[in-house]
Amino acid sequence: MNKYCLPEEFETENYCLRRVQTKDAAAIFDAYAADAAVTKYLAWKPHESVSDTSAFLEAIYANWDQGKSYPVVVFHRKEPEDLLGMFDARPSESCVNYGYVLRASAWGNGCASEVMRWMVEHALSHPMIFRAEAYCDIANPASARVMENAGMTREGILRRYLVHPNISDDPRDCFVYSRVR
Ligand SMILES: CC(C)(COP(=O)(O)OP(=O)(O)OC[C@H]1O[C@@H](n2cnc3c(N)ncnc32)[C@H](O)[C@@H]1OP(=O)(O)O)[C@@H](O)C(=O)NCCC(=O)NCCS
Repeated sequence: MNKYCLPEEFETENYCLRRVQTKDAAAIFDAYAADAAVTKYLAWKPHESVSDTSAFLEAIYANWDQGKSYPVVVFHRKEPEDLLGMFDARPSESCVNYGYVLRASAWGNGCASEVMRWMVEHALSHPMIFRAEAYCDIANPASARVMENAGMTREGILRRYLVHPNISDDPRDCFVYSRVR
């Protein structure tokens, strides 16, 4: 049986997504990678120049062909040149773990919830995948709400689990959410 992977292009009701490419570096840098408000609860510090973004994209672009993770960029269907953010699906055995980030001007329109609903349904319809999961800092309620909107349930708190270096170098408590079948 083929392992789980995302299609290189797909659409939800309002958004279109495609595999990230290294040529997206400037658009990602301009949209969110240097924005401290966006990266506050992420595992990386804001990029200082577009070359930081290029190096990051080269690393994650290779992940796709190795089956390690499936990073996709998202656009509104009505503005398919205007990059809004990125989602990443990271499969391991029977589980897919997610990460997501949108530029600040795109927040609050339902994008992350709509795309995550699609991605979780897609993963759980694969015969080998039984669990879709994501984590967020306990101080990041917008992200927690996205997971709930995607049909995930809060399982608990992973104590001292993730380092979010824009807040502290010490590992922080995180919520873990999942949807299973
Ligand atoms: C988290 C993030 C992806 C959400 O994207 P989004 O497209 O704005 O999310 P949606 O509009 O689909 O849904 C956000 C939900 O959070 C709620 N919300 C937003 N801010 C909130 C807050 N401060 N407290 C409580 N709920 C909040 C919204 O009301 C909405 O819930 P609702 O549908 O029940 O009304 C976006 O804020 C982001 O990119 N943040 C920075 C990166 C990040 O933190 N990523 C997640 C790492 S785990």
